[in-house]
Amino acid sequence: MEKAATTFFSLALVLMLMHCFVALAGGAANYTSSDESALLAFKTHITYDPNHILATNWSTNTSFCNWVGVSCRHRGQNRVTSLNLSNMGLQGTIPPQIGNLSFLTYFNISFNHFNGHLPAELGQLRRLKVFH
Ligand SMILES: *[C@@H]1O[C@H](CO)[C@@H](O)[C@H](O)[C@H]1NC(C)=O
Ligand SMILES: *[C@@H]1O[C@H](CO)[C@@H](O)[C@H](O)[C@H]1NC(C)=O
Ligand SMILES: *[C@@H]1O[C@H](CO)[C@@H](O)[C@H](O)[C@H]1NC(C)=O
Ligand SMILES: *[C@@H]1O[C@H](CO)[C@@H](O)[C@H](O)[C@H]1NC(C)=O
Ligand SMILES: *[C@@H]1O[C@H](CO)[C@@H](O)[C@H](O)[C@H]1NC(C)=O
Ligand SMILES: *[C@@H]1O[C@H](CO)[C@@H](O)[C@H](O)[C@H]1NC(C)=O
Repeated sequence: MEKAATTFFSLALVLMLMHCFVALAGGAANYTSSDESALLAFKTHITYDPNHILATNWSTNTSFCNWVGVSCRHRGQNRVTSLNLSNMGLQGTIPPQIGNLSFLTYFNISFNHFNGHLPAELGQLRRLKVFH
């Protein structure tokens, strides 16, 4: 009797642990994928790119850490820390998804032709130190 009860509780414990593991694995956010989406949203909001730099270089067949103007932190999940796209003749708007780049510290898009409003979501970037 005692042995049966022990076996039952051991089984229940194993099942509970498995359930927790599946929940964690399935629910953990992929911030690398979220950063990639934010950069791709930025790319689709570029209306003019005279040298086709983003059009040819910002390709999902390689990690965004290799994209021109993008610098990353590589510890843990790859996260964008710096965006330097100054002086590329770009036109377009800044989409709200930029607010998802939560590790961004440096954002330089000076000497381009961006227009429209700065999205309020920029205010979510609590690590941002430089915005030019
Ligand atoms: C997270 O997303 C990136 C980019 O889409 C992908 O390369 C990576 O395999 C994903 N990681 C996990 C754990 O799903
Ligand atoms: C990756 O995509 C870019 C742009 O679409 C293309 O020029 C390049 O040849 C591709 N590289 C590979 C390894 O598929
Ligand atoms: C994008 O630009 C970077 C930096 O210039 C370069 O290392 C990389 O090979 C380029 N990638 C593509 C697909 O053109
Ligand atoms: C930003 O990009 C410009 C032009 O490519 C380069 O001259 C400058 O050194 C870069 N700045 C940083 C902080 O990477
Ligand atoms: C990123 O930002 C947009 C707009 O602010 C939001 O709708 C989206 O759900 C965010 N998250 C991801 C993972 O892309
Ligand atoms: C932004 O980039 C421009 C051109 O590369 C450079 O002159 C300027 O100093 C940069 N701004 C900051 C705050 O780093």
